[in-house]
Amino acid sequence: MTDLTVRIAGKNFKNPVWAASGTFGCGEELERFVDLRNIGAIVTKTVTLGEREGNPPPRVIETASGLLNSVGLENKGAEWFVKNKYPFLKQCGTNVVVSFAAFTPGEWVKCAEILTDGDFPDAFEINLSCPNVSYGAARGLVAQDKRAVEKVLRAVKAVTRVPLIAKLTPNVTDIGEIAVRAESSGADAVAVANTFQGVAVDAETMKPYFKRVVAGLSGPAIKPLALKAVMDAYRQVKVPVVGIGGIMTGIDAAEFMLCGAAAVEVGTATLRDPCSCSRVLEELQEYLKTKGVKKARELTGRAAKQKGLPRAISKNRKRNVI
Ligand SMILES: Cc1cc2nc3c(=O)[nH]c(=O)nc-3n(C[C@H](O)[C@H](O)[C@H](O)COP(=O)(O)O)c2cc1C
Repeated sequence: MTDLTVRIAGKNFKNPVWAASGTFGCGEELERFVDLRNIGAIVTKTVTLGEREGNPPPRVIETASGLLNSVGLENKGAEWFVKNKYPFLKQCGTNVVVSFAAFTPGEWVKCAEILTDGDFPDAFEINLSCPNVSYGAARGLVAQDKRAVEKVLRAVKAVTRVPLIAKLTPNVTDIGEIAVRAESSGADAVAVANTFQGVAVDAETMKPYFKRVVAGLSGPAIKPLALKAVMDAYRQVKVPVVGIGGIMTGIDAAEFMLCGAAAVEVGTATLRDPCSCSRVLEELQEYLKTKGVKKARELTGRAAKQKGLPRAISKNRKRNVI
């Protein structure tokens, strides 16, 4: 029997295949397709302090091997979530990671306080990286600014015992540098990464397809980019890296682990086939068996540690100056 267990942010997870935020509801919606007890964890749709309507339609468009979305964190707010979703999540049979985002330092703290219920959930995924909302006047993403990352994580850490997984954006020059700051500011793990910013244009109307113009690209199109981001982060931090981006198969999951991920999240694949998480897990198990790997966690970082590999851009910064 292969040992699939992984330990992340001080918690034990039965396996490394998790459902990604925003593509799995809070699990209840997918219960008739997936035996929730089999997956490693459910990462819930991002919750905010107050209710949000989200962005106006259209919200998604297919691209070559990918999906652009502009959902904009539609949800009913943290209080509602605790009252209406925690009872289900507490008995769903697997680990629960609650994702939340906020827009001011005070809101981050309030959200953490409302969503902390003793030792529940198993972890918070701090969404520092949604490309479809505006944070303050700069309209940038929190995870594009080291100081903002530090401020948010320190503030949240001060008010909750629940472990923190910082979800980063790949839309930066050096994700390793941001991961290092997240680690030193209290993140118990980093999730790499959210969607890549992209644009769709309607040639017929000659206008941008989305009202907010810029949207988030996910799916197989981003996999090689996400693998690099995972490798860059893994080489610079000691805390575990959770890999995300275009995982459609168990082999994809294995590739992320080989690049340094301790666990992976499956996102867009679930929108195509609601059973994707279970299938990815089965295929990963098959791969481990074929390769004679007895413990899934032994895959982590194997391809990132090999001798003779060029160093990540962030370690090489001086030589990359043009
Ligand atoms: C429709 C949609 C909604 C998403 N909503 C969220 C969200 O609420 N919070 C979040 O952190 N990430 C959200 N994401 C990003 C995914 O969790 C994931 O990071 C990204 O899609 C890359 O993984 P994938 O290629 O497997 O989808 C969303 C993605 C999609 C496609």
